[in-house]
Amino acid sequence: MGEGNDIPLVGGKSFTAVAINCAAKAGEWIKTKLGNHTSLSIKYSAQDLVTEVDKGAEKMIRNLVGTHFPHHSFLGEEGVEPGPEASTKALQSVKDAEYLWIVDPIDGTTNFVHGFPYFSVSIALAHWGEVIVGVVYDPMRDELFVAEKGKGAYVRGRRMAVSGEQTLRDSLLATGFPADPNYAQPLNMKQLQAIAPQVRNVRSLGSAALHMAYVASGRLSGFWEIGLNSWDLAAGALLVKESGGAVTDLQGNEYHLGVRHVAASNSHLHGEFLQVLQQAEAGS
Ligand code: IPD
Ligand code: CA
Ligand code: CA
Repeated sequence: MGEGNDIPLVGGKSFTAVAINCAAKAGEWIKTKLGNHTSLSIKYSAQDLVTEVDKGAEKMIRNLVGTHFPHHSFLGEEGVEPGPEASTKALQSVKDAEYLWIVDPIDGTTNFVHGFPYFSVSIALAHWGEVIVGVVYDPMRDELFVAEKGKGAYVRGRRMAVSGEQTLRDSLLATGFPADPNYAQPLNMKQLQAIAPQVRNVRSLGSAALHMAYVASGRLSGFWEIGLNSWDLAAGALLVKESGGAVTDLQGNEYHLGVRHVAASNSHLHGEFLQVLQQAEAGS
């Protein structure tokens, strides 16, 4: 996949090659900084953290993308004011760009800050609002998850496929615990309470992008979370879809860049999954 001949490319690299290169370079650098970050700030709430490594990694990716594709648009978490309103506005202003790179330089900053070795770099490219390339890189395991629209998804060079569990009873799910104490947190707790007794178990590892990559690779049967942003989900959503899974909002509408409350699964148990989530919401 690459741009037409009329647009000059430095080195002539394809979109996917650039996405992989950016994720690998940023990830390697982030890994060297584990346990050595020097500045820690709070963004929107006490649970919303940022370090100089988040900012540095985003700058590195932005510069690399800009070198190859200077006319493309760029939406990175660290370039947006904190909070859901600002995120929605930022997405609104670029979502219909011809080519839009959507980047979370470190997905799992809380883990990174605590030395918990589970975080990722998430890079997606959307064309007229539709994700066409998705890359999620886990630098601690050196695992690169890559998808191209219509061409499948791969991990460590092997084609990925979602898991085969047909029912919630046989499933391993994951969720993310939201920080927002007014809406998202109480709802997530209700959902967890409704789902936990019906499944094999529920995990919460702290990187939405990696949770999505694990659904794609069949390591998780499903994942849900309330209140995410486009940079948490865009790459992972393509990974799941290209691996045969389902990604929707909690009402069952197909994933698009504006989805904040997400359910992703191997598709077999999606109906049952949504039903339990919806019942919990109705009863909350
Ligand atoms: C967070 C992670 C976490 C999820 C949060 C996200 P960040 O992203 O994906 O797993 O539960 O909702 O905000 O802040 O580390 O990029
Ligand atoms: Ca994130
Ligand atoms: Ca982040």
